Amino acid sequence: MKKLMIICGGQSTENLVSRMSCTSVLKNLHRDYYDLTLVGIDQDGQWYLLDDTQDDLATKGWLDLATPVKDVYQLIQQQDVIFPVLHGKYGEDGTIQGLFELAQVPYVGCHTLASSVAMDKIYTKKILQTVGIPQVKSLYVKKRYDGKYVVVNQQFEETEDVLKTVKETLGFPCFVKASRSGSSVGCFRVDREEDFLDILEQTGQYDSHIVVEEYIDCIELETAVLGNDDPVVSRVGQIMPHGEFYTFESKYEDEESKTCIPALVDADIQEKIREYALKVFKAIDGHGLSRVDFFLDKKTNQVYLNEINTMPGFTKISMYPQLMADYGLSYSDLIDRLIELAFER
Ligand SMILES: Nc1ncnc2c1ncn2[C@@H]1O[C@H](COP(=O)(O)OP(=O)(O)O)[C@@H](O)[C@H]1O
Ligand SMILES: [Mg+2]
Repeated sequence: MKKLMIICGGQSTENLVSRMSCTSVLKNLHRDYYDLTLVGIDQDGQWYLLDDTQDDLATKGWLDLATPVKDVYQLIQQQDVIFPVLHGKYGEDGTIQGLFELAQVPYVGCHTLASSVAMDKIYTKKILQTVGIPQVKSLYVKKRYDGKYVVVNQQFEETEDVLKTVKETLGFPCFVKASRSGSSVGCFRVDREEDFLDILEQTGQYDSHIVVEEYIDCIELETAVLGNDDPVVSRVGQIMPHGEFYTFESKYEDEESKTCIPALVDADIQEKIREYALKVFKAIDGHGLSRVDFFLDKKTNQVYLNEINTMPGFTKISMYPQLMADYGLSYSDLIDRLIELAFER
């Protein structure tokens, strides 16, 4: 029996989302296939061994029966394989993947490079420009250590009048987003020019890399990629967010937000998206899994890449497992397949 370590929680703003994902993983894991160690990381980065019989890791008492891990590295080295069910900073950004690499223990999902590229919306854009994936007009704004906000151009030269550049190149409304965030935390729609600088400052609290994008009145479409050398791609799913856009609340708390598989858009658009998704996965050097998200401009029917998530939301009702179920892989079999793929390296 393989020694499997599952990790949840983490230091990112998506700690709770990770515990929601992990609750579903535990419920559906073929327990008799694995010798399981369940680990939780709290918001301060402390690792704990968790009671794996609790049926909801998303409650406040998730650490009640936990014991602190004294030697994290040793614990990692004792495993045959690791499934980091972690989203966001220090979980999905290549850092913890680097730790597993050092310890030479196979793990589920993308490796360090793909994880860190996909975590950073700005660097994702730069890589995907090279393979001609259409993307919305955007600017890279950086918060320097001296506190100044600058626009960084394609030559990495910095200019200071951020508002003027945004006004001239993108206009309003626009989207201002922390480049290395997720779950719509640090993601704002700015309708009025006079609000821009305040919102930029707010976004700067989350990340020094900020992406400002032209606003697209769009349909949101997502697709699931699974595999290593020869990945497969699911059909395309459609997000029907309730509210202004797909905010944290509409993602996790608003039952009016719905998804639909397959998407209610033309077949040729869906084919294009599936083709792009595979290209994106290859271009970032993906392994294991990723969910690749697109915008379809309602006015022009143009498809744009939005982002790639290397550890997408993983509750049973999340888009990635649903797309894979539609593909023919049940949630429990999907977990086995991901673990199998971890060993293939
Ligand atoms: N340029 C844009 N135009 C219109 N809506 C956007 C744009 N960028 C983001 N959004 C909305 O904000 C949501 C979150 O943005 P996204 O880039 O996917 O960040 P996250 O990594 O937090 O999911 C999207 O699902 C979409 O609803
Ligand atoms: Mg998103």
